[in-house]
Amino acid sequence: MSGEGVDTSKRRFLTAAATVVGGVGAVFVAVPFVESMLPSERAKAAGAPVEADISKIEPGQMLRFKWRGKPVWVVRRTQEMLEALPSLNGRLRDPDSEEPQQPPYAQNINRSIKPENLVLVGICTHLGCSPSFVPEAMPQPYDAEWKGGFFCPCHGSRFDLAGRVFVGVPAPLNLVVPPHKYISDTLILIGEDKGAA
Ligand code: FES
Repeated sequence: MSGEGVDTSKRRFLTAAATVVGGVGAVFVAVPFVESMLPSERAKAAGAPVEADISKIEPGQMLRFKWRGKPVWVVRRTQEMLEALPSLNGRLRDPDSEEPQQPPYAQNINRSIKPENLVLVGICTHLGCSPSFVPEAMPQPYDAEWKGGFFCPCHGSRFDLAGRVFVGVPAPLNLVVPPHKYISDTLILIGEDKGAA
């Protein structure tokens, strides 16, 4: 008889526990259901263009933004940085940006709309690490002739200050220039280029 009593209380406990779990389960079920009612809103936010305010950027600096979950960089290049770019052509895999890694309006020596402002997706074209910004033109352990650029410490890929990849590194392609356009001199819309120059 006492065994029955124990069983009964266990059963009550299990019933109570099942009720609680059922209640929690109902909450977990309800959330995705509500979210599933707004797929277009979520999709729109995930792919929406992003405004990049570059009013505070100084020559030689880089600002970081996020678009579609990816890092996007804007670098304000100095005149010296721009002048160094053609001198690197002989050391680069795709100096003329023939691979489709940029929109047509960025297929030029600077890989940009305005020479001074470089806009790049900050993801290495080897295996997807985010390279470091190393703007100083001075010898580096990985390049005695370094003129400034991006270094990916994961496997040693190097890119110049136009995001062009060097020969002899594992990354196969230049860094990606995302679609973008200027809303004003200090505001760039990243992710949309309708009506861009
Ligand atoms: S991920 Fe950049 S070098 Fe491998």
